[in-house]
Amino acid sequence: MKLWGGRFRQPLDPDFQRWQSSFAFDRRLLSYELAASAAHARALKNAAVLSSDELIAILQGLEQIAAQAASSSTFLHDEEAEDVHHFVHKQLASLIGDVAYKLHSGRSRNEQIAVDLRLYIRASIDQLENDLATWLEALLQCAEHAHDAVMPAYTHLQPAEPVLVAHYLLAYVEMLLRDAGRLTDCRKRLNLCPLGSGAVAGATLALDRRAMAADLAFSGPTANSLDSTSDRDFVLEFVCALSLLGLHLSRWAEEMILFSSEQYGFVQLPEAYSTGSSAMPQKKNPDLLELTRAKAARLIGAAHTLMILTKGLPLAYNKDLQETQEALFDAVSTISSLLPLVTGWTKAAEFDYGRMREAAEAGFMNAWAAATYLVRRGVPSSTAHEQIGKAVQLCLEKGCRLQELSLQELHSLNPAFDTDFYACLTLESVLAIHDVVGGTAPGRVRQAIVDAKQRVEAIREGSHAHA
Ligand code: ARG
Repeated sequence: MKLWGGRFRQPLDPDFQRWQSSFAFDRRLLSYELAASAAHARALKNAAVLSSDELIAILQGLEQIAAQAASSSTFLHDEEAEDVHHFVHKQLASLIGDVAYKLHSGRSRNEQIAVDLRLYIRASIDQLENDLATWLEALLQCAEHAHDAVMPAYTHLQPAEPVLVAHYLLAYVEMLLRDAGRLTDCRKRLNLCPLGSGAVAGATLALDRRAMAADLAFSGPTANSLDSTSDRDFVLEFVCALSLLGLHLSRWAEEMILFSSEQYGFVQLPEAYSTGSSAMPQKKNPDLLELTRAKAARLIGAAHTLMILTKGLPLAYNKDLQETQEALFDAVSTISSLLPLVTGWTKAAEFDYGRMREAAEAGFMNAWAAATYLVRRGVPSSTAHEQIGKAVQLCLEKGCRLQELSLQELHSLNPAFDTDFYACLTLESVLAIHDVVGGTAPGRVRQAIVDAKQRVEAIREGSHAHA
């Protein structure tokens, strides 16, 4: 039986019927639709709309649908189903007969889709937080493995100052921790239950909305029926959070591509995650990284689709909202398939600490430390900057490094230079002067790794607590 049709004299045009159906994509919401239907059925029983026997029959029917979906690959092929709600309605009727039609009492698909999507995103967040934690752990392992290895840090893509490789990796750890935090925030805000909102004005039966919310592990019912049935902010917020994660992934991928190039040679591409060229036998290409860089476009595209879809939409439910689903599903499958792969890549990639150190020793990256030497001797920083700039110029003319200038040459710039100046220019000393919270001094970085591990652990615990 259809969910509607009494007032129609003509059947639907078959092309239109197929075209407007969402079952091909919303069938992935089946488990949430079944859980929400069970909660609604229990509320109907408490409101004396269903007898105990009817409730049992409905709950058993819903369970049977879940079991058949799990065991049969063709069960979900249904050309007639308008959407996942209609599918359950039909299947339940064929399993338990007319009592199935009582399940829809006092509810509307407008609230059903809203609750299904919230449940789907909530479960996706729990899974993604776990996947993110796994990647974070892999990055932290790389950071620990790197010990005191050094590399150049760049600004404007020009060598700027040396940093610990671990410090560099921790920069990505910070981005990803923020991404995880955004998902957690989004989960908190979406964890309210729209059931009992009806089509637009609220349920027509005395359903206990708090009980339904508790049944589905929501923190409470939503506050306004118009808003609950038309709100997709939570979809947008979630996909925007995924877009930011996608942006971070693309920045990371871009740097790994750069660092794995012949010219940098900082990282070896793992063969298991690279491909060859059909033309040039010598090639090993960073395809995983390139596709990772590219996937951000899909995620950002999904966020744009959602914004444009909901912009200017009048209250309350409009069928336009059905279009939010595919953008959401594509974003979730894009990111869920990506995270385990980048984790595998991270574990398999090997950094060439020797090459990184060589690069960190070139390029006058101790110049700021040299200026700091003068500042500590009371020289105004602008003067120190100017004088070390002149020293660099001298080195460029002579083809040497700052530490290779004689004391005599240095004195011609400033008599404050002394023999202890040279000790300030080694990589180790340059690192050590950045001894502030968030700086690259080795002790600070070791502590930052410990702190980051705890924060990753908290993400794991949070997602386990919800599971
Ligand atoms: N498939 C629909 C959607 O995703 C379900 C809600 C249908 N509601 C309605 N009034 N036609 O939006």
